[in-house]
Amino acid sequence: MKSVLVLYLSRNGHTARVARAIAASVDAAGGKAERMDVVEAAREGLDWNAYDVVAVGAPVLYGSYDRRVFDFVAANRTLLDARPNSFFNVSVVARTPAKATVEGNRYMQKFLQLSAWKPKDLKVFAGKVDYPNWPWHERKMIQLIMKMTHGPTDPSTVVDYTDWNEVAAYGRRLLTLS
Ligand SMILES: Cc1cc2nc3c(=O)[nH]c(=O)nc-3n(C[C@H](O)[C@H](O)[C@H](O)COP(=O)(O)O)c2cc1C
Repeated sequence: MKSVLVLYLSRNGHTARVARAIAASVDAAGGKAERMDVVEAAREGLDWNAYDVVAVGAPVLYGSYDRRVFDFVAANRTLLDARPNSFFNVSVVARTPAKATVEGNRYMQKFLQLSAWKPKDLKVFAGKVDYPNWPWHERKMIQLIMKMTHGPTDPSTVVDYTDWNEVAAYGRRLLTLS
């Protein structure tokens, strides 16, 4: 049975939910999935030999990613490269089909430019707009991004743009990576 580790960083919980759905899909397809927060993995260390496949996921925040994601993948680059691996990002710009592809999502391109680790497989997911649950300064920032990209700006908006069938398909895909 293939074991898959899904590492993730989540600021407000949505990427954690995506990671959970990926893990559930791996399990449903006959694999064995584990999930771990990147921050915890960096602090506690990992038994890398326990995993056949490793995926790393992160939300796009202010046009980039939490520094700790770059630090983690840079520090563990050789271990990541020693097995099939994948990176997924979660962003609200990916709600439009053109920006939901690896080539069309500039944040994915940015990751590839800035990351010392070059993942073998990539996936873009649309995330969630959750104005009521975001601190006001974060809400203001996303409203600005949304205004520029013609998305919702009403502060009461909660929209989950994630295609959960795609998330499940990605979980199954992880089991096929070689
Ligand atoms: C502080 C903040 C900054 C964000 N910046 C961007 C951004 O620059 N581009 C984008 O497409 N989405 C941006 N988003 C949207 C998030 O990527 C999206 O809501 C994602 O689902 C958040 O995942 P999380 O709950 O795991 O943190 C931002 C969200 C927050 C809260």
